[in-house]
This record gives sequence, C-alpha cells and structure tokens, in this order.
Amino acid sequence: MTSSDKKLSSARLTQPTNAFVEEFTASVNFDKRLYRQDIQGSIAHATMLAKTGILSNDEKDQILAGLQSIESEIEDGQFKWSIAQEDVHMNIEARLIALIGDVGKKLHTGRSRNDQVATDIRLYLRDMITPITSELKRLQLALLDVAEREADTILPGFTHLQTAQPVTFGHHMMAWYEMLCRDAERLTDCAKRVNSMPLGAAALAGTTFSIDREMTAELLGFDRICQNSLDAVSDRDFAIEFNSVASMLMMHLSRFSEELIIWSSAQFDFVDLGDAFCTGSSIMPQKKNPDVPELIRGKTSRVYGNLFNLLALMKNQPLAYNKDNQEDKEPLFDTVDTLLGSLRVYADMMSVITVKASNMRQATLRGYATATDLADYLVRKGVAFRDAHEVVGLAVAYGIKHEKDLSELSLQELQSFSKAITGDVFDVLTLEGSVAARDHLGGTAPSQVKAAIARARASLST
Ligand code: ARG
Repeated sequence: MTSSDKKLSSARLTQPTNAFVEEFTASVNFDKRLYRQDIQGSIAHATMLAKTGILSNDEKDQILAGLQSIESEIEDGQFKWSIAQEDVHMNIEARLIALIGDVGKKLHTGRSRNDQVATDIRLYLRDMITPITSELKRLQLALLDVAEREADTILPGFTHLQTAQPVTFGHHMMAWYEMLCRDAERLTDCAKRVNSMPLGAAALAGTTFSIDREMTAELLGFDRICQNSLDAVSDRDFAIEFNSVASMLMMHLSRFSEELIIWSSAQFDFVDLGDAFCTGSSIMPQKKNPDVPELIRGKTSRVYGNLFNLLALMKNQPLAYNKDNQEDKEPLFDTVDTLLGSLRVYADMMSVITVKASNMRQATLRGYATATDLADYLVRKGVAFRDAHEVVGLAVAYGIKHEKDLSELSLQELQSFSKAITGDVFDVLTLEGSVAARDHLGGTAPSQVKAAIARARASLST
C-alpha cells in the first residue's frame, strides 16, 4: 500500500471497510469538482496557522508548495483520484502527505472535513454565481436589443391566450427583461449569504487552537464569518436559497420558452428562432423543431427537482453535521450546470431571433384587439363604461358575422351601434393609435418602451 492509498481516518476501526461500502460512501467521483476551492481553503488555513504560530513558517511553506503542485497535477490530468480516500478533501491531503511527508499531516490542525466541505461549497457557489450573473446580463442585453429593434412592432397581447389588446413587441420583451432583473437581484442577494465562512467551526464545536478566523476569512475573500460553529457545519440553507433563485429564474425561462414555441409554430408564425437553435425531424422533412426552448422547459423540472431534493435532504437532520450532507453536491452542481447552460444558450438564441412583423400585425387585426379602445372612446364621449362595453360587444359580433375588423366598418355601420360615434373614431381603431395611446409609465406605447430601454441600459451599465 502506498502512502496515498492509506486511509486517513480509519485507525479506530479494526476491520477494513467492506469494498462495496467504500464505493457506496465515496463522494470523490463528484466532489473532485471542488478541488480548486479545497486547495484555496487549505492554503488560507495553513497561512493563518503559521501567522498565529500554530505552524512554523517553514512548515507552512512546504505545505503551500505541496498544495500548489497537487493543483498542477490535477489540472494536468496526472492526479490519481482514489475511492479509498473517499472524498476530494482526503484525496488531496493524502497526496500532500505522500509528497512532503510528515509536515503534510499538520495541515488538518484546528479544522475538520465538516467545516472544510462547507467552506468549499460556499467558495464554489460564490465562484459560479459570477459567470451565472454575467450570462444573465448577456441575456438581458440581448433582450434590450430585440426590444429596441422592435419597439414599434405590433403583436396581439393575450389574456387566456385569446387576443386581448395590441401591444408592442418591444414592450413584450421588456416584460421578460423585468422578470430577469428581479432574478438578478435575487442572485446578488443570495450571494451575500453564500459568502460567509464556516472555517474554524472544525467538527462542530470550534477548536482548542487559538486560530484567527478573521484572517482566514480575509484571505479567502469572505464578507463575513459564520457566527455559530454548529450552524456553520450543518446548514445548507445557502445552497437551498441558490437553488430556489435558480428555480425562479428557470421558471421565467420556461414560460418564455413556451411563448417561443407557440410563436414559432406554423399556426402563429411570429418569430424565426434561427436554424442554429432548432433541429429537423428524422422522418418529417418539413420540420424545424424549437428544441432549445423545449429543452429549457424540460430542464426547468430538473432544477425544481434539485430544489426539492435539497429541502428534503435537510428536513430531518439534527445538529450538527450528518453524512446526509454529502448528498448536497450532485443536485447543487446539476443546478449550477443547468442554469449556466440555459442562460448561455438563451442569450445566444435571443441574439439571432427574427421577428415576423407582418404576421403579427395580421394576427392582431384578426382578433378585434382594439375593442377596448372603442369602448374607452365612447366613455370619453360621455357613455358610461358598462354601456360602452355592451355597444362594442354588439359591434364585434356584427364584425365577426360580416368578417370585418372594427376598423373596416363604415362610420354608418358603427353609428348604428351608438350615436356618440363620430368620424374621429378611426384614429382609435388603428393598431398604431391603440398602442400609442397607452402612453404612461409601464404602458405599451413605443415612446414608453424606448424610455424603459434607456432606463434599463443605464441601470445595467452601473
Ligand atoms: N465528503 C463529506 C461531505 O461531502 C465531507 C465531510 C465528511 N465529514 C465526516 N465527518 N464524515 O460532506
């Protein structure tokens, strides 16, 4: 047995671990992803141990050099991960001892794998929130570009998926933009609670060595220190919170995807997603399937599943650390990967989407989308809203029967429903008039959309 095969935590046990139990309990196959954070944490810990006189400077230097060469070994694919060493932490520590000898055995002074793993996951999540936030921003910018290009483009706004009132495509994009803004805020807020340092909690109660947690926290760039050792090693609420932020974000992407799927169908034909984001069918030659949005919709379920997984993982655990917590990593990693990938593909897809303005316009005209405008017009002419509502309902029924939009009815025909109608009615029956009239903060008028885009660009650049 070479020294890096010798178990680091088994002296008390007289029997060797059952071979399958060893495999069953090992986490190295998935937690090796944390190697960089593990080494970073160990470097900070050893540095602090030397500054506080618990290790000598020479010992610290040997440990740091060993850890750095282990990092290179891992990055060069030379490192031999071993199931026998159970997890990323013990694999690295065993290798350190093999490389630098007995000094390596001092690294674990004043810490435990319990505070070590909690630290690693927090560092990892903090590291991953950065690219997630920038992919989210890239998507937001792509949405702003589409919104700007299509600020005046009109499509039917829907309620119950029935044509309701005309809206501008820019306004519609800005609705998604707003949702993503809240997601970005939630991400930033969650990052604050992620960035808190468990190290120093040791196994659960703290350590008898006179460690300096402030120093370690500063070395690792933590904003704060977990204030209670039991809490520090046992809770994973930061991971659950991240997964819940991710779930909300995926929910938004999934709803958005649903629209893209509907809009790219032959029946709607409002948008073209770009060939690079669709696939064909192996049997039906005419098909261009919106695979990317469909997959995002599907992957949203995975992220919800991971959230529930983590919540369920925690609910029965007494304080402090329990091995159950080893199960936190796979769902968390999967959520990170899924979210990052989804945002990336979405940002790319939205950068090439094309909008079929004339199809959207035709659809808006078919749906009596300006009926509310006619009712509002009547109210301004002194008709009570409920009466106006009824008049317009009758006019729409007439239009359906004669296959004419309200704007295609003659003045005479319109006046047969209400004497209050005069020649200026046609101004409100046009689609452009309808959207331009909703000219207040948050309304669909192109001028308001452009102002909203300008505000958004200013806030994204800060
Ligand atoms: N691999 C473990 C985990 O992921 C590390 C901590 C193990 N601690 C222990 N006392 N068994 O949670």
